[in-house]
Amino acid sequence: MLLLNIFKYNKSMKKIIIITGASSGMGAEFARQLSVRKCEDGGKIDEIWIIARREDRLKELSAELTGGSGAFVPLIKPIAVDIGGRKGGEIIGGLLAKEAGGVVIDTLVNNAGFGTYGRFDSTDIKWQLDEIDLNVTSPTAITWAALPYMERGSRIINTASLAAFSAMGCFAIYAATKAYMLSFTLGLAAELHSKGVKVIALCPGPVDTEFSQVASEGVRNKVLHGKKPYAVVRHCLRSLEKGKKIAVMAPKWKFKAFLPRLFGRYFTAKVTMLTEKRPSKKD
Ligand SMILES: NC(=O)c1ccc[n+]([C@@H]2O[C@H](COP(=O)([O-])OP(=O)(O)OC[C@H]3O[C@@H](n4cnc5c(N)ncnc54)[C@H](OP(=O)(O)O)[C@@H]3O)[C@@H](O)[C@H]2O)c1
Repeated sequence: MLLLNIFKYNKSMKKIIIITGASSGMGAEFARQLSVRKCEDGGKIDEIWIIARREDRLKELSAELTGGSGAFVPLIKPIAVDIGGRKGGEIIGGLLAKEAGGVVIDTLVNNAGFGTYGRFDSTDIKWQLDEIDLNVTSPTAITWAALPYMERGSRIINTASLAAFSAMGCFAIYAATKAYMLSFTLGLAAELHSKGVKVIALCPGPVDTEFSQVASEGVRNKVLHGKKPYAVVRHCLRSLEKGKKIAVMAPKWKFKAFLPRLFGRYFTAKVTMLTEKRPSKKD
């Protein structure tokens, strides 16, 4: 039943890209780099839906991307909405169903997410459950809602993390949500391979975004030793073109992803807890 539009697709349908978590960091960078994308069939992207809660940021990004040289730019559509949990799928599914004339999703970027620094037992449980809702339930529901609008050549990018490869003390829920994202991505990639839909998990180490500010509730304002979002996103898009299923950019990150296999995940959970201090308000 899924991927029905493969059979219904016609050239007059709108081609769109959907990016969640696009008001800052890597999501905004995906919008910048994908706004110049040419489709596999040589066609152009008609619209990019940029999704997050902060409307002012989305409007700024939309103005930045459309205010350029006059060359063809897709319509950048800011959608200011909270997509946490199951409602994420209902919202995106509802917007897609409203598209008169039909729509094909060229690329879906499931990127919205956040972390919570600190011990599990001393961190507000509602906040941690919201983290699971946004990092796990929401991209799952959104992907399910989006699949019927995909065709051969469509792509799904799921932002996981280097944390996906290991369990982590004092970052326990976050690492667990990203392990889900990595596993979900690979399973989906296997299922969709024969349909010609490419799926990749982006697994970066530290990236210079607003991530730490949110995860530490303002205690730490900068991601330590963060790489530039531009480089991380560019590497991910190139890896996707090459048919890779996982994007891990830096050699140091590749080494770190390998360590849990060597020493076991409990060992790396303890080591990361003791050596990678993540400050929280409770400290
Ligand atoms: N930075 C890192 O070191 C790093 C490393 C590995 C993986 N990641 C992952 O990369 C992804 C992007 O994060 P980032 O580093 O770019 O951090 P960021 O700058 O904080 O971006 C997070 C994005 O998610 C959006 N978001 C948060 N809650 C939302 C909600 N309920 N509904 C809709 N949108 C929501 C935020 O926008 P609003 O606040 O406007 O809603 C923002 O656009 C996340 O999945 C994160 O886990 C980050």
